[in-house]
Amino acid sequence: MKILIVYGSLEGQTSKIAHFMKEILLDDNHDVILANVTNNPLPADKFDVILIGSSIHLNSYNPSIKKYVKNNIEELNKKITGFYSVSMAIASNLPEKHQEVNQLTQQFLTDTGWETNRIWHIEGALKFTKYDYLKKMMMRSIAQKEFGPININKDYEYTDWEKVKNHLSQFSSRLKTRLHEQA
Ligand SMILES: Cc1cc2nc3c(=O)[nH]c(=O)nc-3n(C[C@H](O)[C@H](O)[C@H](O)COP(=O)(O)O)c2cc1C
Repeated sequence: MKILIVYGSLEGQTSKIAHFMKEILLDDNHDVILANVTNNPLPADKFDVILIGSSIHLNSYNPSIKKYVKNNIEELNKKITGFYSVSMAIASNLPEKHQEVNQLTQQFLTDTGWETNRIWHIEGALKFTKYDYLKKMMMRSIAQKEFGPININKDYEYTDWEKVKNHLSQFSSRLKTRLHEQA
């Protein structure tokens, strides 16, 4: 199938995940186009399947992703779609943090009118080497409470790649069954 993956990423983790997803789908013989939302991505109507990814910063999804979804809402609601949300809250052991992300996701879907029922929550990364001094201090203070001692000269990746791979492999198999049934 023709698949578009559009992503919004500030420090690169959502982009890294999009590239990883692309490889899995290519291995399964799908046609995949990857688009950074800042590079004027193609409209949704040219594709059978659209996957959209955004990280969370300061309790908000990427504004350009929100705009893309709103601009393409009619097509998105007609097609096979999925949303992958990248956050640190989902890496927490505290159930209330997971609840917060779930609420944020539901709010995003309500605000945009997007009716996707495929949502993947993916743990992100803390890229201290990319933060300015103030951000390093702020993120260390938040992260230490949850994840233990932090060295601000290092990056920490919490993404569970095996989980991402499983989600994508299952999704891809379902797409192939659908294609088979249509043939
Ligand atoms: C300034 C800043 C604010 C963040 N705010 C949140 C937040 O509100 N909730 C959360 O779960 N994660 C938050 N994160 C963690 C990011 O979602 C995580 O680092 C993610 O991997 C970023 O993905 P990206 O590199 O694709 O932008 C924040 C990270 C930074 C640097």
